[in-house]
Amino acid sequence: MAFDKASVRDADVDGKRVLVRVDFNVPLDGEEVTDDTRIRAALPTIEYLTGRGARVILCSHLGRPKGQVVPELSLAPAAKRLSELTGQPVGLADDVAGQDSEAKVEDLQPGQILLLENTRFEPGETENAPALAARLAALADIYVNDAFGAAHRAHASTAGVAADLPAYAGLLLEKEVENLTSVATDPARPLVVVLGGAKVSDKVGVIDRFLEIADQILIGGAMCFPFYKAQGHAIGGSLCHDDDIPLAREALEKAAAGNCELVLPTDLALGREFSADTDTEELDGVDVPEGWMGLDIGPKSAADYAARVGSAGTVLWNGPMGAFELGPFAGGTRTVAEAVAAAPGYTVVGGGDSVAALVKFGLTDQVNWVSTGGGASLELLEGKDLPGVAALNDK
Ligand code: 3PG
Repeated sequence: MAFDKASVRDADVDGKRVLVRVDFNVPLDGEEVTDDTRIRAALPTIEYLTGRGARVILCSHLGRPKGQVVPELSLAPAAKRLSELTGQPVGLADDVAGQDSEAKVEDLQPGQILLLENTRFEPGETENAPALAARLAALADIYVNDAFGAAHRAHASTAGVAADLPAYAGLLLEKEVENLTSVATDPARPLVVVLGGAKVSDKVGVIDRFLEIADQILIGGAMCFPFYKAQGHAIGGSLCHDDDIPLAREALEKAAAGNCELVLPTDLALGREFSADTDTEELDGVDVPEGWMGLDIGPKSAADYAARVGSAGTVLWNGPMGAFELGPFAGGTRTVAEAVAAAPGYTVVGGGDSVAALVKFGLTDQVNWVSTGGGASLELLEGKDLPGVAALNDK
């Protein structure tokens, strides 16, 4: 499916004030950005605009300050990192769309970059208040949304402001939507979806949709345990949210009645407790004894998943296979990550934790598309319209 929203490439930006919503919601250690992936991902749009003489006004949220000014959640570290990456000064306004922003925008020359302060310092941001949207719009001539990671939020800076200005998609947002939707609309077969993480409820929309589209869904992570419980297995002390059990049962029933194979691990790596120093045990089977918890898929299942990924035409991976942050339980996630990286098919990885695993194992460059979105990528994969995309002008 072709992307049907107007692109920044369709806009005349020369000399214009362009308000660009980016997702600079990045991890910080004090005043340092510890992972600048999202800032780097916004560079093509930012450099496209500066290179064409636009006056670039960036805005983003960071964390969840709930409408208060929280100094630790200032975007100053992001401005510093962006300045290093672009090799040019990046101004920082000390408000979102107030006196300081207005004054700094007034001084902004073609090709220069200004970053507004954290949009969530304003209560109107998450309320999508028209008054805040209007103040943001008054700073600019054109609006560009490149914040794919926040496109599932109907907030003033991600959606509201688009009603007040000509509104275009940024280059990252456009590519994210194209790559993620292509998995569901026109995948090379077989389409293998690998889902992990802690909760079925987080992924149930994706499971539901892909049971109708995919050839195989491979389940890993603590998400397995509601499935095992629904099948009558013992799960020992493994993590299992009771609300997830009926969801897992429905997915099993739907899979049995359809054409998509829903695959669960057949062996597990166990620990006594959630710790890197705990006793470990390999279980060839899935009935977890009392006093133990499943913390990773076992080596047989990991090898099986890797083989399935290796013979897929398209792979979508979201969510780790186990507690990969604990050394002894990283094996399943590492095997799957390596298989995704080596797969000859088209590979897409989304979700913060699986992306963190790719980064940890140094495999990010070997995947066709690594999404910058967590919740946004899941909602798009579920087939939902994202408010931040829907609000843009049509092509
Ligand atoms: C994210 O990190 O997933 C996005 O930036 C959205 O953040 P939020 O969940 O706080 O809206």
